[in-house]
Amino acid sequence: KRHLLEAADLDRADATLVLDTAAQIESALAGREVKKLPTLRGRTVVNLFYEDSTRTRISFELAAKRLSADVINFSAKGSSVSKGESLKDTALTLEAMGSDAIVVRHPSSGAPHRLAGWVRGSVVNAGDGTHEHPTQALLDAYTIRRRLGRLDGVRVAVVGDVLHSRVARSNVWLLSTLGAEVTLVAPPTLLPVGVGSWPVQVSYDLDAVLPKADVVMMLRVQLERMNASFFPSAREYSRRYGLDALRLAALGDEAVVMHPGPMNRGMEIAADVADSVRSTIVEQVANGVSVRMAVLYLLLGGASS
Ligand code: CP
Repeated sequence: KRHLLEAADLDRADATLVLDTAAQIESALAGREVKKLPTLRGRTVVNLFYEDSTRTRISFELAAKRLSADVINFSAKGSSVSKGESLKDTALTLEAMGSDAIVVRHPSSGAPHRLAGWVRGSVVNAGDGTHEHPTQALLDAYTIRRRLGRLDGVRVAVVGDVLHSRVARSNVWLLSTLGAEVTLVAPPTLLPVGVGSWPVQVSYDLDAVLPKADVVMMLRVQLERMNASFFPSAREYSRRYGLDALRLAALGDEAVVMHPGPMNRGMEIAADVADSVRSTIVEQVANGVSVRMAVLYLLLGGASS
């Protein structure tokens, strides 16, 4: 494959190859003082971000640098985008300067697909609108497999603002491809129309789902995309769908708590739960670098073209 545009495109073999490659990279670098491989020397990766990011942008930057690629960080703020330059012209400009791969985050669902039709190099979707965030799902699957030793048959509850979440969509596709059983837990107003055709169970009752879950993946409430009729009160939301210490105690002994970040501490997840030994939140971030190294390595092939 030349691009990574959506988790829905990945079959079981593709996804397993990414996870296994990430594991090999992680063990190759473990214990080394200089955490760097020469694989992408002479290649250029552009991070093209039209939306803010902390984890994904820095993680891709580190991943590319650890593979010895040159990295250009492009933020729409402060660029000629403010003068009206289009995504296409921006991408062609970057390619003319020698980019081999473009990692793109964009507020419009489908923007990475458009980009893939315009450039010769690889395109990696780093989050497009409410559509997909495939490398987040890959790093989440990697984290689950590392913690629980398997993905097949693992019961994953994805909780909260599914409506606005590209992370939820990518995880639904990827985790079900890898054999996990996904249950979405959300108020009816925060579930998308069409969820009935997704490979998931749906519940409105978090307390009923928690004792049966191996993984509880909390989603950020995306207040910036919210309308008062979707979301009447933070306190009421927290009471019904927030993960606090009392609810944490209802989980099985081996169950883990995940969150893609950034978190609204005190809303969808209590601070003591986010910081508990059950939480994989910091591990998810660390694993993200290995998984993104694997993605760049597999797409760019390691050899100059
Ligand atoms: N999880 C995630 O995509 O975080 P950022 O928005 O900080 O990249």
